[in-house]
Amino acid sequence: MNVVELEAIGRRYQRRPARLFKMAEELRILIVYASQTGGAARLADAVERGAQAQPSAAIRKLHGTRAGLADLLWCDALVIVTPENFGYMAGAVKDFFDRTYDAAQGKRANLPYGVVVRAGNDGTFALAAVERIARGYGFKRIAEPILSVGDDVDGPLVQCEELGQTLVAGLELGIFGRQGLRS
Ligand SMILES: Cc1cc2nc3c(=O)[nH]c(=O)nc-3n(C[C@H](O)[C@H](O)[C@H](O)COP(=O)(O)O)c2cc1C
Repeated sequence: MNVVELEAIGRRYQRRPARLFKMAEELRILIVYASQTGGAARLADAVERGAQAQPSAAIRKLHGTRAGLADLLWCDALVIVTPENFGYMAGAVKDFFDRTYDAAQGKRANLPYGVVVRAGNDGTFALAAVERIARGYGFKRIAEPILSVGDDVDGPLVQCEELGQTLVAGLELGIFGRQGLRS
């Protein structure tokens, strides 16, 4: 293939609508989680399984202490999965927010996100805390929060799988809007 042919292909791609262009790319899902006794980790695994069902998905599932700004800038959508501990999100998830908040300001506005909370008897405090911080980043929640409360740890696994699927499918279809996508 010569240079003239390559340039012609490049021009054709530039004329494509953004969402069709995205279909040819991998769609990047970042799952940030924390878990002491495995409940939230199982829910994070379920989100990952759901996203993996879509061939175009590239997934990073990272513990909150390991996820950082580079991961946040890499992704097309984010899922936070946390237990409620002492009426708040897990420290590891808070740590991820602490380390990325300032540097991400203005860079991930409208990033589509979802949130899953695992709790012994409540979960609403952790959920409210995640949502408040997410608003500060400008993230856009694209699905109802998932709460897994009490003994039925595995009850919401299907919902979590659906969340993963929905995120990738929504990105493929461009329904979350252009601003949430990587430029
Ligand atoms: C230190 C500690 C604090 C907790 N605080 C809360 C709480 O404030 N509200 C609640 O509903 N459950 C609370 N729980 C229960 C956990 O949310 C629950 O055990 C959950 O399944 C833990 O998730 P994990 O298995 O992913 O670690 C607490 C558990 C621990 C160990």
